[in-house]
Amino acid sequence: VGDTSGFLAAIFKRGIPYIQIPTTLLAQVDAAIGGKTGVDVKEAKNLLGSFYHPRLVLIDPLLLKTLNKAQMLSAIAEVIKYAAIKDKHLFKYLEDNFAKILQKDLPSLEFVILRCAKIKARIVSQDEREKKGIRTLLNFGHTIGHALEAASGYAGYSHGEAVALGMLVAADLSHKYRLISQEKVFRLAQLIKNYGLPTLIKGITLEKIIQAMPYDKKFQGEKTRFVLLKDIGCACLKNNVPYSLIKEALAKRISKK
Ligand SMILES: NC(=O)c1ccc[n+]([C@@H]2O[C@H](COP(=O)([O-])OP(=O)(O)OC[C@H]3O[C@@H](n4cnc5c(N)ncnc54)[C@H](O)[C@@H]3O)[C@@H](O)[C@H]2O)c1
Ligand SMILES: [Zn+2]
Repeated sequence: VGDTSGFLAAIFKRGIPYIQIPTTLLAQVDAAIGGKTGVDVKEAKNLLGSFYHPRLVLIDPLLLKTLNKAQMLSAIAEVIKYAAIKDKHLFKYLEDNFAKILQKDLPSLEFVILRCAKIKARIVSQDEREKKGIRTLLNFGHTIGHALEAASGYAGYSHGEAVALGMLVAADLSHKYRLISQEKVFRLAQLIKNYGLPTLIKGITLEKIIQAMPYDKKFQGEKTRFVLLKDIGCACLKNNVPYSLIKEALAKRISKK
């Protein structure tokens, strides 16, 4: 709704002011902020769109009281993403308060939403059009995540579940590059597990996932570009990640059962 109405506001009479009032956790921490608006057409997601910022984003966490668990969880994956790439204090808060957050405790939600909204706003104000490799960091977990969604025919995993698994594969890759310790990969896996998100890929073969990968927007030509972690709360871009390494990391996360 936010993407479509934002796009309509952008093109109606060549642009009218509008306000975003997001009612899902995902929209409150992500979609309503950053000015990306658009509609999906049958050929591709977000094929028609524009950058068009709202005058105001009005967030009320009380709205989330009626949001179902699946929608909450899908957004939690993006919340974990923000913490992993930019905010080690938020990461610790998510570790310490998962029960409260899952119960939709209002002060906890307020804390988390404000923190995430600030991170997204800061990143977007530094690199609105994704030209400096800063906004790209928001794609942590999405390279493999998008491949998982596509490989399962957009029916197997929700976006959040796919992103959770994608973050773990990216963390495993980060460890292979000796950027982060095994212990930190384990912390991420434990956090994802505590929120009830998956940590193992089930029902999709390695080949299918790899086949689905080159279509990711971050694959510029033959180059395989990944967002990796240097630490909890600190991410970087890595170009030319070889397929052999991606396959090794994926294999580790594919359930043997
Ligand atoms: N523009 C961006 O930067 C950006 C970023 C991330 C995602 N997106 C887009 O956002 C879309 C997903 O949006 P979304 O996650 O906000 O979900 P949504 O609008 O698809 O809503 C999900 C479901 O929750 C219900 N719902 C919404 N608010 C509710 C509430 N308060 N209580 C009970 N039920 C409620 C809706 O009716 C719907 O069934 C996707 O199309 C995605 O591509 C855009
Ligand atoms: Zn996402």
